Amino acid sequence: MDDEVVLKAPLFATMEPEETRKLFESMQKVTLGRGDVLFHEGEPGDRLYVIARGKIKLGRRAPDGRENLLSVLGPGEMFGELSLFDPGPRTATASAVSDALLYELHNKQLIAWLTEHPGVSSHLLRALAQRLRRTNDSLADLVFSDVPGRVAKALLDLASKFGEPTADGVRVAHDLTQEELAQLVGASRETVNKALADFTQRHWVRREGRAVVLLDVDRLERRAR
Ligand code: CMP
Repeated sequence: MDDEVVLKAPLFATMEPEETRKLFESMQKVTLGRGDVLFHEGEPGDRLYVIARGKIKLGRRAPDGRENLLSVLGPGEMFGELSLFDPGPRTATASAVSDALLYELHNKQLIAWLTEHPGVSSHLLRALAQRLRRTNDSLADLVFSDVPGRVAKALLDLASKFGEPTADGVRVAHDLTQEELAQLVGASRETVNKALADFTQRHWVRREGRAVVLLDVDRLERRAR
């Protein structure tokens, strides 16, 4: 089960099952509890990770202490590769939002793997390009969209990763605190809460602790545009 989701990562794309298993078996397991920090922004990095279970947040801290979340990643997603492809310090702090199980791959193993299987590089490039697209979208949203629009977009984005259909909508167990959700949207907790309260009142969402049920996805999509 854990294997299956990890093997969907771009790192393993289009490989023969035997080869894939060989690489997977050479990876080390890492378990984290909620709140554990895997690495800090600025540290040297020599390995990448694929998530088998749980959620990992990637955040940056401004000199005045404010934090911003770049992304929340879930099963099958990979991170920590930037400081391998462009040797330098980690560009973000990675910590667990929920209990998590990861598989790590050392730089040397990755380089050997890519030398033996050059075709995998195109899948990694595709994953990087997709991330750049998403980052450009977020940047444009920060400049052009208001906070409610960004909240709607963040909820839809979290739903595409963690959502599960239920009788009355899509339940998204994001595991984020209100503060973390605000850091993901790039606004104050108060403004994000106000937007959520408004969506709740309009029956577009229902809040359930660290989860939210999207009751009217169409309206949220329109608000996110
Ligand atoms: P690295 O810099 O080694 O460590 C932090 C990791 O966060 C980085 O590699 C990427 O894998 C990941 N990361 C950095 N920026 C983003 C982003 N904007 N969206 C998603 N993941 C990111």
